Amino acid sequence: MSDQLIIFDTTLRDGEQSPGASMTKDEKLRIARQLERLKVDVIEAGFAASSNGDFEAVQAIANAIKDSTVCSLARTNDRDIARAAQALQGAQRARIHTFIATSPLHMEKKLRMTPEQVHEQAKLSVRFARNLCGDVEFSAEDGYRSDMDFLCRVIETAIDEGATTINVPDTVGYAIPELYGNFIRELRERVPNADKAIWSVHCHNDLGMAVANSLAGVKIGGARQVECTINGLGERAGNCSLEEIVMAVKTRRDYFGLDVRVDAQHILAASRMVSQTTGFVVQPNKAVVGANAFAHASGIHQDGVLKARDTYEIMRAEDVGWSTNKIVLGKLSGRNAFKQRLNDLGVVLESEGDINSAFLRFKELADRKSEIFDEDILALVSDEGVIRHDEQFGFVSLAQRSETGERPHAVVVFTVQGKEVRGESDGNGPVDATLKAIEGHVKSGAEMVLYSVNAISGSTESQGEVTVRLQNAGRVVNGVGSDPDIVVASAKAYLSALNKLQSKADRVAAQG
Ligand code: KIV
Ligand code: ZN
Repeated sequence: MSDQLIIFDTTLRDGEQSPGASMTKDEKLRIARQLERLKVDVIEAGFAASSNGDFEAVQAIANAIKDSTVCSLARTNDRDIARAAQALQGAQRARIHTFIATSPLHMEKKLRMTPEQVHEQAKLSVRFARNLCGDVEFSAEDGYRSDMDFLCRVIETAIDEGATTINVPDTVGYAIPELYGNFIRELRERVPNADKAIWSVHCHNDLGMAVANSLAGVKIGGARQVECTINGLGERAGNCSLEEIVMAVKTRRDYFGLDVRVDAQHILAASRMVSQTTGFVVQPNKAVVGANAFAHASGIHQDGVLKARDTYEIMRAEDVGWSTNKIVLGKLSGRNAFKQRLNDLGVVLESEGDINSAFLRFKELADRKSEIFDEDILALVSDEGVIRHDEQFGFVSLAQRSETGERPHAVVVFTVQGKEVRGESDGNGPVDATLKAIEGHVKSGAEMVLYSVNAISGSTESQGEVTVRLQNAGRVVNGVGSDPDIVVASAKAYLSALNKLQSKADRVAAQG
């Protein structure tokens, strides 16, 4: 059996299914480039048949990525599979990932199909996909809650028809490590042609065991592919987290005996990029990428680490990218240095106009803030206006007054389709007044379901990063804004969320 563990990243597909995490094509492309820099083996770029937007994102990623396999999800029907193949045409290495549910519950209640129909559909679809692409993954959705005999039959057929990877998801996060590991092992022992495919695990985190279950699938079950997302992003409690899987296998190579191709030094930048793009903040005590992951607060620990690092540290912070958390640029830095830094961070701005606009914003920021960190640059380019020009709303300026005993008042100037407008309001606090000033003008009617502020790089000198989650007519979006002034950051975040609500509404309308 191979001693290489394949890392399959599904941040852009399963991760994006998380309410509010939807990304634009440009955002996805930027993350895909970072995943390539991270050297993930397979990037699941989206679900090409699900919308025109997703098709275009998969296509753009397939055309741009050279060093990772690019994959599209497809249901087991000819239209989905053909659409995936079409979107993947430009890829250096392409994979079609087709899936159908195999658990009694899903077949009866969701698909309303008999097991025989599911078996037949899996067979024909893998055959069809294999005619279009040499690399085909078959997933048995809700595989872990499926009947063992039936699942063995479906998988045997899928491999006979040419599936090169077999994925057995724990779709609802119900598994327990030992049981899941044994389940994969039993499947591999019972499916007669099991050795003709690579086995994959895909675990959701509903009971907080996605990483443990995936590792058991590898160690006990013999799986050689793990499906995961940056920061564990995903629906409900999320997916298996890439950074935890990779560092577990690397740190405990003595136990797993497996190699991963991933270049861990790029993990932190990927984590930051995904969190800033989606507005899903990383909890401070999150393993590997949380702000406290390598911070030693207690005196005993600090003393120990100073004397001998490995007393309390099992990984080196710099090995996962924390060492890049240093001052990189200041107000004297020129355009070339800025451009080079963007390049090092994997940020590709399409035109000279985009670079100029980003550089201008960098200079403005450097005037107000002496030390510019990588995080500041990433925040700057994920903000409105640099990458996207075609958006409905854009921030221009804010004047607000707040004084103890007085009701705060804000005046916000922003653009609506390029035309400047002015909103004005009182509020309970400066942020409330500012957002009411915008909403009073826009009248979106959206409900705010989350508001959070985070310091981008640690001190009170750092930029505030605000996330606003809005819900309207069943749609949920996250907007992110950053600025040294957190009230301005709040206004930007609110406008960014309104833009996303708008573009989601446009996408739905376009799909009919
Ligand atoms: O969780 C799941 O079952 C999935 C499949 C589509 C692979 O995401
Ligand atoms: Zn999933």
